[in-house]
Amino acid sequence: MIVTPFARRIKHLRAGKGFSVRDLAAAIGKSPAYMAKIETQGEIPTPQLTSELAKLLDVDPVELLQLAKTARLSSASREIEREYSRAVAMQELVDKQELADDREKRGASKMTKVMSLINMKGGVGKTTLAMQLAHSAASKKLRTLAVDLDPQSNLSQALMGPRQYVKHLDTKKPTIVQIFDDYVPTDARSGSPRRLDVDEVLVKGAGPWASKELDLIPSRLELSRTLKNPTGKERRLAKALAQIRGRYDIIIIDCAPTESVLTDAAYFASRYIVAPIKPEFMATIGLPLLARSLQEFRLENDDHQIEIAGLAFNHSSSYSAGPEGQQSIEDVTKEAKKHGWYIFENQVRYSASYAKSAREGTPLSWTSYARGDVVEGFRRFADEVFEQIGIVEVPA
Ligand SMILES: Nc1ncnc2c1ncn2[C@@H]1O[C@H](COP(=O)(O)OP(=O)(O)O)[C@@H](O)[C@H]1O
Ligand SMILES: [Mg+2]
Repeated sequence: MIVTPFARRIKHLRAGKGFSVRDLAAAIGKSPAYMAKIETQGEIPTPQLTSELAKLLDVDPVELLQLAKTARLSSASREIEREYSRAVAMQELVDKQELADDREKRGASKMTKVMSLINMKGGVGKTTLAMQLAHSAASKKLRTLAVDLDPQSNLSQALMGPRQYVKHLDTKKPTIVQIFDDYVPTDARSGSPRRLDVDEVLVKGAGPWASKELDLIPSRLELSRTLKNPTGKERRLAKALAQIRGRYDIIIIDCAPTESVLTDAAYFASRYIVAPIKPEFMATIGLPLLARSLQEFRLENDDHQIEIAGLAFNHSSSYSAGPEGQQSIEDVTKEAKKHGWYIFENQVRYSASYAKSAREGTPLSWTSYARGDVVEGFRRFADEVFEQIGIVEVPA
């Protein structure tokens, strides 16, 4: 119901004349419904019709025209108000969304990114790439945590250096083993087992220069105990990392080759998987296995977002660059296409300096024997990996 002074005046005059709505409608050649709309719905007739009404109702047309004009103006201004308010509200929504998107984009580089190096094949370079990627990230001043999820503990040795690693074992400090056990056992100084504080497991400033950007969760052979009693342990690493993730920009997990509860633990803890591939005869053999294992994990955990960031060709033996290598690269590319997996453009070249670097516990770029182009090649590979997992900006 919209009753303007114009409508009220018309109704008053009509009643005064003893006309019904129907009578007056008929007199101006309109429907009673139209007349009712004038009196109750804010309908305003044209100036001609208004003058006609004035004549029929015996009133000065100027008076009615003035009232009609005022009514029309306020109706128009209401309409304009509505239209533009709606537009303003829409724009505010868009601005808000853009601001949120922008924040998310800027925040994306701040968000902790967890990636696992997985391939159900041994000797393809998981540990080598995990080690060098950890060094690359730390040297970019990304706060980096390396996690050794292999009972063989190669990553721990490679990052701490073999001597330091043995010393660490002697201290009996908790390692990744206690993360899976979920407690710290009694020792000479304690009278009871106790709860694990994740901080106890961290080796801060791992690496030869004790870089404050690089921490490590070391492993030890006893991790194989977890493999013997795996029930209910697959989420423990994810839980532990969830407590400390805010301190890191990137977490790199090195996995054991065989599929086990440790693989599931890596899946639960990761957002991205990088699968190193050794381009040799039967290189594709592990890929359907990885695809199936990942698919099973996703089926059971469809709330968990995990994806293959890419397959990484690692020429870990000198002959992989030959025809056999070429053939296997083609085979792997075909297989990757089937699953929609990305293959990193930058391949990791064969160089004996990778093995030396791991043995001595020094980053590739430190080894005097590493050729400049090998170091540069790995840098490009690392940058591509970081970009692929969404580490866009590198903190200054
Ligand atoms: N690009 C490479 N060039 C030369 N040797 C390599 C390269 N990548 C790995 N290796 C060597 O190959 C062996 C297996 O690598 P590793 O990283 O331990 O594999 P994984 O962890 O998958 O079992 C190691 O001796 C390592 O030093
Ligand atoms: Mg390994």
